[in-house]
Amino acid sequence: MIKMLHLLLVTISITGFIGRIILSETQSPYVKHKVVVVFPHVVNGLLLLSGFTLVFQGQWLAGEYGWIVVKILALLGYIALATVAMRQRGRNRWLAFFGAMACFTYIAIVAVTKNALFFL
Ligand code: HEM
Repeated sequence: MIKMLHLLLVTISITGFIGRIILSETQSPYVKHKVVVVFPHVVNGLLLLSGFTLVFQGQWLAGEYGWIVVKILALLGYIALATVAMRQRGRNRWLAFFGAMACFTYIAIVAVTKNALFFL
């Protein structure tokens, strides 16, 4: 149940991020709309909360938990790069955008494989 909510929030978070980049690139006035500004913080806050709930519910800290630590670190990278992508324009925006997408993809693969070094 919480896992379904977690996955739903993951989907809303990444869709919202791409959506805001599109709004900003097309210079839509909606990019400054209160809902567009506040909604991502609510979604990302709930995403974090659902993630930590899953950690304790599944007693993931009792076993090999390196992948959870790495997941949180990569999440910080995703948040930082997504913030830069929203604030910058041009080349820097796209570098930050693809960096954020790479972090997101890495987080999702680590979540499924439960292995931070899945590529080795
Ligand atoms: C962008 C952020 C995140 C993404 C893309 C993401 C993605 C995912 C995905 C795809 C799964 C399902 C894995 C599977 O079915 O095997 C999952 C599960 C899980 N996530 Fe996240 N997650 C994110 C943030 C977090 C955070 C912040 C935490 C908490 C530290 C967290 C903790 C967990 C745990 C413990 C599971 C395992 C649940 C289980 O297999 O029973 N996640 N996540």
